[in-house]
Amino acid sequence: MRGNGPLSGTVPIGGSKNAALPVLTAAILFDRPLTIDHVPRLRDISTLLALLDVLGVRAARDDEALVLDGSNLTSSHAPYDLVRRMRASIYVLGPLLARTGEARVSLPGGCAWGPRPVDLHVLAMEKLGATVDVEHGYLVARAPKGGLKGGTIRFAVSSVGATCNALLACVTARGRTRIENAAEEPEVVALAEFLEACGARIQGHGTRTIEVEGTARLTPVRYAVIPDRIEAGTFLVAGAITGGELRLTGCRPDQMESVLDAVRAMGFEVAAEGTEITIRGSGPPRGTQIVTAPYPGFPTDMQAQMMALASIGSGVSVITDTIYHDRFTHVAELGRLGADIRMDGNTAVVHPCAGLSGAHVMATDLRASAALILAGLIAEGETRVSRVYHIDRGYERIEEKLRAVGADVERVQEEGP
Ligand code: EPU
Repeated sequence: MRGNGPLSGTVPIGGSKNAALPVLTAAILFDRPLTIDHVPRLRDISTLLALLDVLGVRAARDDEALVLDGSNLTSSHAPYDLVRRMRASIYVLGPLLARTGEARVSLPGGCAWGPRPVDLHVLAMEKLGATVDVEHGYLVARAPKGGLKGGTIRFAVSSVGATCNALLACVTARGRTRIENAAEEPEVVALAEFLEACGARIQGHGTRTIEVEGTARLTPVRYAVIPDRIEAGTFLVAGAITGGELRLTGCRPDQMESVLDAVRAMGFEVAAEGTEITIRGSGPPRGTQIVTAPYPGFPTDMQAQMMALASIGSGVSVITDTIYHDRFTHVAELGRLGADIRMDGNTAVVHPCAGLSGAHVMATDLRASAALILAGLIAEGETRVSRVYHIDRGYERIEEKLRAVGADVERVQEEGP
């Protein structure tokens, strides 16, 4: 890519990766086909479909809809080879236990920014009566005789994944389940609303306490995945960093308030109406302070992109990640482009720099890649981002969407992990 000034035009926002993943996994619960609309074409979605296929859930694309048929579930074994590619594979644990009474799911292992444990997922299953052992790198879970039974699950920290897994496991359990310190993220609410539409009895989603009355049988309904708030946030930053004017369509601004406010606080004009957001950039961003937190706080998944924006600021910015203390692999790479960022524990202090200049940089994870691409939009000269397969995990055709609004960017080589 070559930095080439303000972007302008309209960017359509796709379906949410992190909302689609648990909803697709719910296909394991049903003995008849499930149709889901607005499923983004992403590498993480293909990875999940490959895993579901191994379990016997067949997937077919029908125009924009995805049809998943779990009527012939053949296995409850989720192999390491697939799980290691995507940590969200752990989502199969709950529904497999619920449907078949057993699950053998590989432990995902570490990730680029730390250990990322799955203890809360295990705790949830145990509170529903399952036994869970670790054998040869696998979680081996067994439901009690008669299937999972309701219980009280209290999470020590708020976890999106563990809350979704608990929901997927308990909606068909016998009796009542209470999930305390549940995650309030829109992706959790979307999963609960989908399950409710299928006949589940759930109360309190979107708050810290969720209560579920088990239902023996669920009936799948056609469902459309909610818009991706992180993709929208990333394009918002693309508008801001290039000093351009972008209109983002098909969004849920009500789920993005902390991000919209953070961009406004840096001096940009952001307007939201209905399902659209417009951003107008003018001048360098003001220095700011950002602290990531569970929803409705500022999302950790936007931390790297905001750091790219802050790096061309007129003042000092202080960015702290309280969710993942080591999620800073983009810092050194942004430094190669000329950013002046100094780390202090889980806080990055971003100083004004003399301007970014293009370089060959390496993507290390999904959101870090997004940050590097955003910086490349304004770096002088050519920026080459390698290992772009990371970006394909969570952004659909990002180079085409950027090119359509004026960016000088091309994919020169398909790369695999
Ligand atoms: N945690 C535990 N034990 C667990 C699970 C989580 O200690 O068993 C901790 C984590 O280490 C972290 C905190 O709880 O400190 C929150 O993690 P959470 O479980 O909420 O994260 P997740 O469900 O694994 C999802 C998104 C991530 C996003 C986080 C936080 C999906 C598939 N992934 O992960 O998205 O960063 O929530 O919002 O929904 C991304 O899209 O780039 C991405 C990484």
